[in-house]
Amino acid sequence: MLFPQATYIQRREALRQLVGNGLIVLPGNNESPMNYPANTYKFRQDSTFLYFFGQHRDGLVGVIDADTGREVLLGDEIDIDDIVWYGEVTSVEQMARECGVAHVAPAAAIREMVADAKKAGRRVHFLPPYRHETMLWLHDLLGIHPSRQRTEASTELIQAVVKLRLIKSEEEIAELERAAAIGYEMHTAAMRLCRPGVTEAYIGGTLEGIAASYGSNVSFQSIVSMHGEILHGYPSERKLEAGRLLLCDAGAETREHYCSDHTRTTPISGTYTQRQKDIYNIVVDCHDLALTHARPGVKWWDVHFAVCKLMTERLKDLGLMQGDTEEAVRAGAHALFLPHGLGHAMGMDVHDMEGLGQTYVGYDDEVRPSTQFGTASLRFARRLEVGHVVTDEPGIYFIPALIDLWRKGGTNAQFLCFDEIEKFKDFGGVRIEDDVLITPDGCRFLGEKRIPYHVDEVEEFLRNREA
Ligand code: GLY
Ligand code: MN
Ligand code: MN
Repeated sequence: MLFPQATYIQRREALRQLVGNGLIVLPGNNESPMNYPANTYKFRQDSTFLYFFGQHRDGLVGVIDADTGREVLLGDEIDIDDIVWYGEVTSVEQMARECGVAHVAPAAAIREMVADAKKAGRRVHFLPPYRHETMLWLHDLLGIHPSRQRTEASTELIQAVVKLRLIKSEEEIAELERAAAIGYEMHTAAMRLCRPGVTEAYIGGTLEGIAASYGSNVSFQSIVSMHGEILHGYPSERKLEAGRLLLCDAGAETREHYCSDHTRTTPISGTYTQRQKDIYNIVVDCHDLALTHARPGVKWWDVHFAVCKLMTERLKDLGLMQGDTEEAVRAGAHALFLPHGLGHAMGMDVHDMEGLGQTYVGYDDEVRPSTQFGTASLRFARRLEVGHVVTDEPGIYFIPALIDLWRKGGTNAQFLCFDEIEKFKDFGGVRIEDDVLITPDGCRFLGEKRIPYHVDEVEEFLRNREA
């Protein structure tokens, strides 16, 4: 457990007040088999369970009676077999004491608790599950088929959890800073290794090893690719080639699962070519522009579109776009180059709470999602508040299949100079990403040490790295 007991007690009390009534059921995660039952993936606790109960063991369920305030931690004690193979672990009673929960019960007791609540005509609040084990468990418990669990999940509970988890406290920010510090070590290691002949897989493996060496995990599968235009290009056995760019998007999560998420795009030869600089510097300026716009009260939607407009202007200067900037952006023409959003909320999940539904996390009554290609991938758009953490991750990608498709279909043809764009089909892609904390007077990047990204800084870093 990371934080003082009082933190978990306050969080649960706030949740109870927000939900108002009914029985809140929050299952933790179970071990999940990889290729046979006893060979499991590394255990990863559910973030919401961890947020309210702070315990890392598998097989736990937290119940909060929103009417009475009665709280129960359910779980089975381990037996001698478990002790022989895995060693002693804290008892359920001790875990409950640690996080300030008054009652414990065996895991099976959940059936009676839920049955009693239903018999009394009370609501049973649950969150949309994302693991199949949890779906089966909920099916057994509530008789709701997995295909309906997402729509029948409790909107009140989702909104309450989002409201609490979206605002990061000082103690959470300190933990996010720790994740960013590990991210710094990962990315600067990748930049030191980025030379012709080294494989993408070697760099990817090194990054993951660094995260693991801090007792930590990566916060998502690392993206390490010379094909930066593939948004989630996982590392291959390919050797890095002189003259190309390496896009590396990777992060760590601390033991308590607070995340970092950074991207750097490094010239494999040590310096950017003029053509690479032309594109790269647009992304740098878009990245820096977000910092000057983001502050409490501003919609992230507007920051995203300020970036899209700057990108369009600069692509016009390069002869890749044309026409009226406002009109081009309204039509979504920029999405040929930037088919994703400027950023997403980040916290205990790298895409924070995405499992609860992106619309609940990133949108509200005021700011509604769009279905337009590109903007539809903007995961966060609402007005910024002090304590929000969002990623700032503009990119420019030349995706040959998308260029061909739009050219053939005449999509946004009045704004796109396809003959010029064709010449960039071998370019790849550039993305620069840092994590931004919204502060009372604006915002700042998380991480004490900045991973170099301005052209001069990157080239200097590469020049001075150890052989
Ligand atoms: N790692 C995927 C992202 O940056 O959102
Ligand atoms: Mn990323
Ligand atoms: Mn990201």
